[in-house]
Amino acid sequence: MCGIIGYVGPESIDVTSILLDGLSKLEYRGYDSAGIAVLTAAGKLELHRRAGKIANLAASVSNGSRPGAGTLGIGHTRWATHGRPDDTNAHPHTDCSGTLSLVHNGIIENYVDLRQELIANGHVFQSETDTEVLAHLVEHTYFGEAQRDLPQALQIALKRVEGTYAIAVVSREQPDLLVGARHNGGPLIVGLGERENFLASDIPALLKHTRNIIVLEEGEIVELRPHSVVITDSAGSKVLRKPLAIDWDIEAAEKGGYSHFAIKEINEQPEALRRALLGRVHQGELRLPELDALRASGTLDNILRIVIVACGSSYHASLLAKYAIEKWTRIPVEAITASEFRYCEPIMGPDTLCVAVTQSGETLDTIVGVRQAREHGSPVIAITNVVASGITRLSDAVLYLHAGPEICVVSTKTFVNSVSVLYLLGLYLGQQNGQVQPEQMRKLLDEFERLPGQIQDILDKANAPDDIIAPLAQRMAQVRSMVFIGRGVGYPTALEGALKLKEISYIHAEGFPAGELKHGSIALLDPETPLIGIATASHVYDKIVSNIQEVRARDAHVIVVATEGDEKIKQHAHDVLYVPSALEAFSPLLATIPLQLFAYYVAVARGCNVDQPRNLAKSVTVE
Ligand code: F6R
Repeated sequence: MCGIIGYVGPESIDVTSILLDGLSKLEYRGYDSAGIAVLTAAGKLELHRRAGKIANLAASVSNGSRPGAGTLGIGHTRWATHGRPDDTNAHPHTDCSGTLSLVHNGIIENYVDLRQELIANGHVFQSETDTEVLAHLVEHTYFGEAQRDLPQALQIALKRVEGTYAIAVVSREQPDLLVGARHNGGPLIVGLGERENFLASDIPALLKHTRNIIVLEEGEIVELRPHSVVITDSAGSKVLRKPLAIDWDIEAAEKGGYSHFAIKEINEQPEALRRALLGRVHQGELRLPELDALRASGTLDNILRIVIVACGSSYHASLLAKYAIEKWTRIPVEAITASEFRYCEPIMGPDTLCVAVTQSGETLDTIVGVRQAREHGSPVIAITNVVASGITRLSDAVLYLHAGPEICVVSTKTFVNSVSVLYLLGLYLGQQNGQVQPEQMRKLLDEFERLPGQIQDILDKANAPDDIIAPLAQRMAQVRSMVFIGRGVGYPTALEGALKLKEISYIHAEGFPAGELKHGSIALLDPETPLIGIATASHVYDKIVSNIQEVRARDAHVIVVATEGDEKIKQHAHDVLYVPSALEAFSPLLATIPLQLFAYYVAVARGCNVDQPRNLAKSVTVE
């Protein structure tokens, strides 16, 4: 949530363009308002802030009021927590004297007390935000105890702060210094340039300038100058950290001819899945070298229970994995949404493996859940897409999704890869405890390797002019509500289909276990409320068909996702979306694709902002 960008260089250049370009790559993190502060050659911190998207800010700075060239600047795109998303509450925030400018991602929990104290000391506030408190607090220490030493001022001020933060701050008195700090408040990444350095909330904002990055750890403060980067830990000791080389393409973070990142990323799924399998599945053998150390230590031999902690689509992926992992390992699996796990006094311990699934690696609820699991002695495996993200530093082992950058706020390729990587983990554990025999493993892996091609077939069909998904979506675009049902692995698939639809089209949608419908929710159904049933081939196929018939009898419009060759289903459905035949466990990876496409085309038909749905952000770094 919220995106931060910062720049420091040796000579006056068009910092505004660098900041706006960086912000455009971070807009998925929040898009309520945006702002920049540039230290111009004249020694003035020029501030520009606008409610709404970055385009509003860009338009306002191009209307004659563009800041002059400079050596230093910070920018921010906001997902509002405290205070409405208007111009005044937009970041950066300044102090009373106009000496400092600061941007923040996170929440200052004790901001009310601090604000009152600062007001009592003569500080005058302009906004309703918790962030402005930070600007004044740093001002207080900058001109006081720290004697105009900006890193020290920040260090002293932060000792008073309770909450979460990633911060970038500049002073007009120090034109070659950009200071950042981080504590639980989302990522902060240093980009190492040639005679210039950058700070950003995510890697795509840096790719145009550098591929060498350093990820800031908890409690660290970084001082960036044109020729140097100095990191200090919370104890005040200097930290030496080797930069990481990032191999993502710039193109991967661009739309590449597609009208939205959403549809580009949906179409990238075969390739993304191939990358997840690459080096892990080969000629009937499964290798997860990332888990070798855990295995060698014997930790995995003693696992009696697995708890998967996740939110949103990652939680749906976990629900799917529960079926498969239990089947393949005969170890009980619980999938629990992280915001509930945190507060349910979870029963964890060394014999309970905690698996944390978070594509961003930064979801606060998941991170706190993992911390709790560790405190109870559980080993932790993280599944994430983002290299060196917060979750990776809390885990005993990391399985990366290798989905490439996902810019659309809505998860598509990271969902498919999360399910797939969880499945690989299940097969690995099943192999370890002898529940999956070599012959069965070979068969399952062969099926796994067919999936990217099968997903490609669905996409090719969907991209053909005579496909039915887009016209069907057009017809359904004005409905007020939709119901999704499934049984077994079809149930989490239904949940995910409903989530995709509601978050990008704003149509109310709910997913149910099909057998539950008649226990109350069937009352929702009428001719105006279409239903999507997941009826791919499975051991509960006949049951779900019966449920679909019950729905049909209530005159609801019925759409079914079914397995190719199932002609019989046509008599129970108004529309059928076919997917290739697959083993039951793998069928959700195929059934999900038409549901993603359906949600996408409905949203486009309704004129919604598909890549940046209202009120959402890509990584949820607040509770
Ligand atoms: C839905 C979606 C969200 C995320 C959720 C967890 O399309 O993207 O529901 O799945 O916010 O995010 P991560 O996986 O980053 O922890």
